[in-house]
Amino acid sequence: MIIDTHAHLQDKQLRDNLEIILTRAEQAGVEKIICVGYDLQSSRDAVMMARKYKQIYAAVGIHPHDAKTLTNEVLEKFRDWGKEPKVVAIGEIGLDYYRDLSPRDKQQEAFIEQIKLAHEVGKPIIIHDRDAHQDVIDIVKEHRAGKNGGIMHCYSGNLPLAMESIKQGFYISFAGPVTYKNAKKAQEVVLQIPYNRLLVETDCPYLTPEPLRGKINEPANVRWVVQKIAELRKQHPDEIAYLTNRNAREIYRIKD
Ligand code: NI
Repeated sequence: MIIDTHAHLQDKQLRDNLEIILTRAEQAGVEKIICVGYDLQSSRDAVMMARKYKQIYAAVGIHPHDAKTLTNEVLEKFRDWGKEPKVVAIGEIGLDYYRDLSPRDKQQEAFIEQIKLAHEVGKPIIIHDRDAHQDVIDIVKEHRAGKNGGIMHCYSGNLPLAMESIKQGFYISFAGPVTYKNAKKAQEVVLQIPYNRLLVETDCPYLTPEPLRGKINEPANVRWVVQKIAELRKQHPDEIAYLTNRNAREIYRIKD
């Protein structure tokens, strides 16, 4: 059984067909899904879904794109939700210098505030890092961001950075892009990192893996990521499913 460690089920394209999407996930061997927030509303939606559906867990956070919207009131909400047992992480948080939708100083400020919040509520963090590798790792080190563990989501950095992140307490998560032809760097990281730090995700509705690229992504498709990693590591897909499931339970402290 697989755990999709990062999905956005609250996205309209998925939410409107949630029951059928959950059924397809179950049929594809996906037993749990972490629904990740990116702003206040999507974090609220994630919490509501986790309360309603046994197989859904939530993460709450402000994405770097929306860093300017992080107010004390929002932090207060996250603090409350963060105490719920099925809210398993603070995320997704981090830095995005590719699209720069919030000023970089605002992004850094929001990132650091939410790291502190994760420490307060004792939960791991989920990091979004796009073209900001050096600043992310500097902040992670300075603020001991991996104190309660964390996840480098949809990993796109190189091997040395992955190893440094692991040293800082992080797990490395791979999504659809690892199945793409031009993903040589990510594929090298898949091969080299220790198996006990490896995770799989969809980041749906985005980043649909091969051979379904072009369609709307959903949790059932995480099996293609598992398949690709198994191929790369010359292991059986069941073994990759088992290992990544165990790792996901460990980082998110899922007991049942
Ligand atoms: Ni995401």
